[in-house]
Amino acid sequence: MSRATTKKRLKVSEFKNQVLCGDAGDILSRLPAHCVDTIVTSPPYFQQRDYNNKKQIGQEPTAAQYVNRLVEVFEQCHRVLKPTGSLWIVLGDKYVKGVLQGMPWRTAIALQDAGWILRSDVIWHKPNAMPSSVKTRPTTDHEYIFFFTAGADYFYDADAIREPHVTFSENSKMKGGRNHFGKRGGTPEQGKNGGSSNLHDARWDQAFHPMGRNKRTVWSIPLSKCREAHFAVFPEQLVETCILATCPAGGIVLDPFSGTGTTARVAKQLNRHFIAIDCSAKYCKMARQKLG
Ligand SMILES: C[S@@+](CC[C@H](N)C(=O)[O-])C[C@H]1O[C@@H](n2cnc3c(N)ncnc32)[C@H](O)[C@@H]1O
Repeated sequence: MSRATTKKRLKVSEFKNQVLCGDAGDILSRLPAHCVDTIVTSPPYFQQRDYNNKKQIGQEPTAAQYVNRLVEVFEQCHRVLKPTGSLWIVLGDKYVKGVLQGMPWRTAIALQDAGWILRSDVIWHKPNAMPSSVKTRPTTDHEYIFFFTAGADYFYDADAIREPHVTFSENSKMKGGRNHFGKRGGTPEQGKNGGSSNLHDARWDQAFHPMGRNKRTVWSIPLSKCREAHFAVFPEQLVETCILATCPAGGIVLDPFSGTGTTARVAKQLNRHFIAIDCSAKYCKMARQKLG
């Protein structure tokens, strides 16, 4: 999937911890191969917002043309990613004359066809999503987060993003839950429910993992408020989860559609390096200011 390019490569000091202003595809083609650990990004959505930029993605006349442009950018992403690296893409859908276009899945399937390995489709549930006036269908309050990897063996730190147990928590009302939690010899293998196999296929080792249960695929995270940007910026919590799971400490996180630079800021806070790219000079300036 990698493409040869004749463009002059950037030096490490020219891209590491930098906000680069220009077309994502152009700039990515100037980065060396295999220098990035993880990519966390939210591309412009199909026919959603006019960024008033000649290079912008999102205003293509057809869904197929939009998807093709994204696939081209993500081919470059694949080239700059380490073989153990990952890609997280956040995408919302689009209604055209009341018909849902299925843009997230069209994009995900096109990326699979281009060689990316799809590992998870996460539902980002937005508890504070804007109310809508629609009366002929449910109000949308979710987007997709697709988790891809470049190869078969990839860096994934499940422990870094565990979540609290529900069934086996102190508050659980469930038989075999509260009564056994945190007690020496109190697990159901030995207690009055000994031998019970009706919960979690008797996998007590997983149910009782001391750091919490494995991360689930529905993430309920409120939208952030950012008055300066004319689009919804990433919630930091969302970016944090992706980075902690797939970028080792000291690694490099890339966002090829960085907007106000949320991915870069969270990477910096988590002691990772970043590469931020956006075609809008205004948003690049905002991202640099916010990075301090
Ligand atoms: C949905 S916004 C990203 C918001 C970002 N996640 C944040 O937290 O602020 C998409 C961004 O893609 C940028 N963009 C559009 N076409 C682009 C292109 N061809 N190359 C680079 N950036 C592009 C837009 O300027 C916009 O800032």
